[in-house]
Amino acid sequence: MTDISALEGDLIARIAAAEDDAALEAVRVHALGKKGVVSELLKTLGALSPDERKTQGPAFNALRDRVAEAIGAKKHALGLAVLQRRLETERVDVTLPAPAFAFDPNAGRIHPVAQVTDELIAIFADMGFALAEGPEVERDDYNFTLLNIPPEHPARQMHDTFYLNARADGSRPVLRTHTSPVQIRTMLSQKPPIRIIAPGRTYRSDSDQTHTPMFHQIEGLVIDESTHMGHLKWVLEEFCKAFFEVPNVTMRFRASHFPFTEPSAEVDIQCDRSGDTVKFGEGDDWLEILGCGMVHPKVIANCGLDPEKYQGFAFGCGIDRLAMLKYGLPDLRAFFDSDLRWLKHYGFGVLEQPSLAGGLTR
Ligand code: PHE
Repeated sequence: MTDISALEGDLIARIAAAEDDAALEAVRVHALGKKGVVSELLKTLGALSPDERKTQGPAFNALRDRVAEAIGAKKHALGLAVLQRRLETERVDVTLPAPAFAFDPNAGRIHPVAQVTDELIAIFADMGFALAEGPEVERDDYNFTLLNIPPEHPARQMHDTFYLNARADGSRPVLRTHTSPVQIRTMLSQKPPIRIIAPGRTYRSDSDQTHTPMFHQIEGLVIDESTHMGHLKWVLEEFCKAFFEVPNVTMRFRASHFPFTEPSAEVDIQCDRSGDTVKFGEGDDWLEILGCGMVHPKVIANCGLDPEKYQGFAFGCGIDRLAMLKYGLPDLRAFFDSDLRWLKHYGFGVLEQPSLAGGLTR
């Protein structure tokens, strides 16, 4: 009769000695393969007397299980060792001080959109707005329905939506056409008072000198029990003065329509476009910069809040357009061409961090 413990000792030793996956696989075939020693052992059970089978059967099976387990454990250990070797050989010492790389703060440039986004965050953070986020692949109901844009509403056509394939439940995600779904996400997940901004990428199937299929917006939302249009107006005025870095701006609120705000307005700011560059706070021209309004009671109710108790305002603004205006960038499409010469010319130094205390742009 086979000495089970001697066989086990031999197999465990072979497993321990296997130095890589191939060697371990050879041991596995030797032990548990179709013609492996353990498999052959199990085949002998049939020829044994019923009494012998009663004791040997469980013993052979237990042997097979222990060997299989030892092989599994070794496989795991080999995998870890490979990973460890990779981590050691592919290591980068990120703690090296910058001068060791002959650090050149002008080697890379910050994209104007990133810079302007940071400026906007600094301005609104100073007014007490928290930063909120939402996904770029958005639920149809958050992008439209809960914002009071039901299916078949003409606004859906106006948004030139990119649709994704339908999910198993029949719903069809979209690439968000605006940052307004972050309003919904915020109201669904936070209790008022709410005061957030949400900058991010947005998508519409549209392309010319002033439109790109991917662009950037910043959303603002304030919800509490006593907010009115006057607050909206003050926030936007302070924002424009801070952003364009002028002591005074003249703004014009033009009645408009958005399904998710009532009343709705578009805001123009006074400017002078007679020279090469646009100047703000003077001149007799007007430039549209954002859409806004008081959050529609239906939208508040859609998010499970009581519109009798809560109200507030929202605004949405194109970041790329703000960047073009402030820094005199002529063609929006160049923003996304990844042309290093453009980025070197229009980009910002990595150390030029916008802050209100330091001056937004130095
Ligand atoms: N979401 C609107 C747009 O993309 C802008 C907007 C936001 C208007 C919030 C009103 C309130 O055009």
